[in-house]
Amino acid sequence: MAKVLVVYFSHGGNTRKMAEGLKKAVEAQGVEVEIKKVAEADPGSLAAYDGLLLGSPCYFGVMAADMKRFIDESIKLFGKGELVGKPAGVFASTGGIGGGGELTMISMLAGLMIHGMVVQGSRKGGHFGPLAIGEPDERVFAELENYGAQFAGLVKKLAS
Ligand SMILES: Cc1cc2nc3c(=O)[nH]c(=O)nc-3n(C[C@H](O)[C@H](O)[C@H](O)COP(=O)(O)O)c2cc1C
Repeated sequence: MAKVLVVYFSHGGNTRKMAEGLKKAVEAQGVEVEIKKVAEADPGSLAAYDGLLLGSPCYFGVMAADMKRFIDESIKLFGKGELVGKPAGVFASTGGIGGGGELTMISMLAGLMIHGMVVQGSRKGGHFGPLAIGEPDERVFAELENYGAQFAGLVKKLAS
């Protein structure tokens, strides 16, 4: 069975709730999911998964430093191109509209794209990935469900 890793940073719990919503949505499509706080995730282990989802709150317009450190440490997989062609996606939580949510996602996406990963965008809802303002509500959970299903579809396609 294909296996996805969800890695998130969350101080107040908003991003954690999004990560849990995504896990449920991906699993509902028959794809196995491991979920880890960024502090407990090993960037050297990423090649063992068929897909990667990263989530962070917006801190001063971009991802939180802990997530940036995680991406920086994934350099150990860069030389041999171990993540090339694997599905990737992002999600984020912000304090307000226009607070930098999209930049937060794009800052994470840059790292994933530089690894040569295949990014799942979204035609409906948040184009760069699910985005919440404050505590995730019904709209956000619906978006997570939709995005998780799309992402699981990509994972199954590329893993087969
Ligand atoms: C250090 C710090 C910087 C922040 N910077 C921003 C910001 O630039 N824009 C914004 O909209 N929210 C900002 N916030 C608010 C968080 O993004 C928001 O509360 C988010 O939901 C927190 O997610 P969490 O509950 O998963 O920790 C900031 C919060 C902190 C603690």
